[in-house]
Amino acid sequence: MSKTRSVFECQACGFSSSKWLGRCPDCGEWNSFVEEKVAPLPPAGGKGPRQASLGLETGGRPHLFDEVDGAEADRIPSGIGEFDRVLGGGIVPGSMVLIGGEPGIGKSTLLLQVAHLLARMGGPVLYASGEESERQIKLRGERLGVKGGALYLMGETALERIVEQVDAIKPTALVIDSIQTIYSTRLSSAPGSISQVREVATQLLFLAKGRGLTTFLIGHVTKEGSLAGPKSLEHIVDTVLYFEGERQQHHRIVRAVKNRFGAISELGVFEMTGAGLAPVPNASALFLGERLEGAPGSAVTATMEGTRPMLVEVQALVSPTSFGNPRRMTIGLDANRTALLLAVLEKRVGLQLLGEDVYANVVGGLDVAEPAVDLGVAVAVTSSFRNRPVPPRTVVFGEVGLGGEVRAAGQAALRVREAVQMGFTRCVMPERNLPANGGAGGGIELCGVRTLEQALEAVFAEG
Ligand code: TYD
Ligand code: MG
Repeated sequence: MSKTRSVFECQACGFSSSKWLGRCPDCGEWNSFVEEKVAPLPPAGGKGPRQASLGLETGGRPHLFDEVDGAEADRIPSGIGEFDRVLGGGIVPGSMVLIGGEPGIGKSTLLLQVAHLLARMGGPVLYASGEESERQIKLRGERLGVKGGALYLMGETALERIVEQVDAIKPTALVIDSIQTIYSTRLSSAPGSISQVREVATQLLFLAKGRGLTTFLIGHVTKEGSLAGPKSLEHIVDTVLYFEGERQQHHRIVRAVKNRFGAISELGVFEMTGAGLAPVPNASALFLGERLEGAPGSAVTATMEGTRPMLVEVQALVSPTSFGNPRRMTIGLDANRTALLLAVLEKRVGLQLLGEDVYANVVGGLDVAEPAVDLGVAVAVTSSFRNRPVPPRTVVFGEVGLGGEVRAAGQAALRVREAVQMGFTRCVMPERNLPANGGAGGGIELCGVRTLEQALEAVFAEG
C-alpha cells in the first residue's frame, strides 16, 4: 500500500523539509515554504504506464567508448540566421533549449517564428501554450506571416495531455510556452511552483531524450533577472538562451549562457518589427546608428561577442559632484572595472576625477564584459572630462592594466576589419596587436600604443 507523501518546499530555492518552516535554512527566504503532495511512483519492475509513455522501455547498458556513434547529428538550420548563430550553428535534433526573458520581450514571438519555419521545412511541430488560447496565437501568427506547414497549436496546461498529443501527432519539435504555466497531474501543487516546474521539466527531458524530440521551453525570469523556478532547470537543459536588454528598445539581443553543443557568449541581434523579430546581421550599424558625432564623452570601441566583432559606442558623462562622495554609475559595463579605470586615469594620467560624478553607459542595451573595451571607457571619460570630442572616424580598443599599460586583446585583426567595414579611418590599439607590416595599406591608420597616456595623446592629437 503506497500513500501520498507530503513535503514542504522552499519556493525560492527548492530546499525541502518534512515540516513547515518559517525561514528557509538554505537561502534565508521568509515564508517561502509550501506544502507539496507527491503521488507515489508506479511500482518498479513491470512497466508502469508512465515509463512506457516516456520511452524508457529500452534497457540501458554501457557501451565501449569506441563503439559509441560519435558522428555529430546534422544541425537543422532554423531559417533565422541570428537564432542559428546563438545555438552554435543550427538546431541540434533532440536537444532541449530553454529561452528566458522578461515578459513582453519577444519569447513567444521568436518561437512561433521558429516553429513555423521548422514545420514548413520538416515534420510536424507542436506549439503548446499555457498562456494564450489557440485563437490568440493564431492572431499573432497572422501578423508574423505564418501560413502552411504542419504547425499544430494547443492551448493546454496539463502536461499529460500534451504528452498524449505528442504521441498522436509525433512532432519533430515541441514548444512549451511557458514552463511556469504547465502542471503535471501527479502533483497537487500549483503550476509554477518549484516542484511542478522541476517535475514538468524532468518529464519533458525524458520525452526529448527518449524520442529525439527537439524541445524548446520558454521560461519567465524574476525581477532579479534569474529564471523563476528552480535553478536546477538550467542544469537540466542542453542550452540556455536569454533575452537581454530593454523591451522599450526596438532591438532585442539573445545570448547563449549555456550550450552543450557550441560556444557560449555567442549573440544574436534582432529587431522587433510589425511582422515579428527580424535578424540584424550588421549589429555595428545598429549600435552606431544614432551616434552624435563630435559630442564630447563618446568613444567607439571594438568588442568581440563570441566569434563576431562588434563596434559599440561607450558614453561617459563627467560632472562636478554635489555630494561628499562622488557618484560612479555604469550601465552595460562592469562597475568594479570602471572604478579601477578611473583610479588608473587619476594616478597615471593625472585626471582629477575625485570631485567628479562619473556616469558611463554602453549604447543600445548591450552588456560588454570584455577587458578590451577598457580603452574605450578611458577615452570616453577623458573626452567628457576635458570636454574634447573624439575624432568621429577613430576607434579604440585594448585592455588597460593598473600600471597604466595598454595590453593586447584577442582577435585584433577581426576588430580592425570590422572598423574598416564601418568606415573608420584610424584605430588606436595595443602596440603588441599591430600586424607585422605595421598595418600599412589596409585603408585604416593603425596607431600602436603601450600606455594609456600614449593612447590619449594619439586620440586627441588632432581635432
Ligand atoms: P511576446 O513574444 O508576446 O513576448 P513574451 O512572450 O516574451 O512575453 O512579445 C510581445 C511584444 O512584442 C509586444 O509588446 C508586442 C511586440 N510585437 C511586435 O512589436 N510585433 C509583432 O509582430 C509581434 C508579434 C509582437
Ligand atoms: Mg509569451
